[in-house]
Amino acid sequence: MIEFKAISKKWPDGTAALSDVNVTIPKGQFCVILGPSGAGKSTLLRAVNGLMQPTNGEVVIDGVTLTSATARTLRQRVAMIHQHFNLTLRMSVAANVLAGLLPVVSTGRAILGWFTPEHRAKACALLERVGLTPKHVQRRAGELSGGQQQRVGVARAFMLDPEVVLADEPVASLDPKISREILSLIRDAARERNATVLCSLHQVDLAREFGDRIVGMRDGRIVFDGTPEEFTDERVEALYHGAQWEDHPATEVEAELDALQPQLVAA
Ligand SMILES: Nc1ncnc2c1ncn2[C@@H]1O[C@H](COP(=O)(O)OP(=O)(O)O)[C@@H](O)[C@H]1O
Ligand SMILES: [Mg+2]
Repeated sequence: MIEFKAISKKWPDGTAALSDVNVTIPKGQFCVILGPSGAGKSTLLRAVNGLMQPTNGEVVIDGVTLTSATARTLRQRVAMIHQHFNLTLRMSVAANVLAGLLPVVSTGRAILGWFTPEHRAKACALLERVGLTPKHVQRRAGELSGGQQQRVGVARAFMLDPEVVLADEPVASLDPKISREILSLIRDAARERNATVLCSLHQVDLAREFGDRIVGMRDGRIVFDGTPEEFTDERVEALYHGAQWEDHPATEVEAELDALQPQLVAA
């Protein structure tokens, strides 16, 4: 369960990215965050793994309030899937999936590739689960197509059996067929573990298809919260009226924040 309690975020330049956001996502729910560019979707997701410090309010994950003291342990239970996949392209597919263990394995061990046979078996099982074959495992991540790279991103996210999965526009750069496959993988893998998913999207049809619930944001506020059935065409129009439909590509600052996610340092 994720509880956002009176979360506000004001950037130093005065931009109010989030204004008094109160929302509770129950355990096991696939919650889609929709909204035009600049609505605050990425900022909200980053509040959950501590990549963004809210100006006010608190985030509570399964009863534990996120603070500097709890951030480390909580991060072991929260996984993130990125818009631009965030793989280390010159490293192997296997190494990228094993990087999902970095919150619990020391960086020194990771650089030396000291993973246990159990870890390796789990990485292989997850790669198979996301539809990659043994021939992909030792290839460099950079040789894979975008869809395949995101499969690796999904496998990495599930290495620690997370309780919460954050997915920030995970299919923004993929075609509709691949997008559905990736979202199905995320949804099914999360269901098997009863993990809570918070997934931002900008495609209304995908939100309706995959969301147990849709939260619509605009200008840092929640302006819709309901089921896909309740998210009628009129509601869609109200959410996006006069706004930019497409989400903007990740800014440089966003890319830097993403890079703070645990990553294997190239040996
Ligand atoms: N690091 C930052 N510094 C200043 N403003 C930011 C920063 N990150 C995001 N913003 C601003 O906060 C608002 C919300 O951004 P964001 O959460 O990225 O929206 P979305 O993901 O819905 O497109 C936007 O106005 C954006 O320009
Ligand atoms: Mg965003």
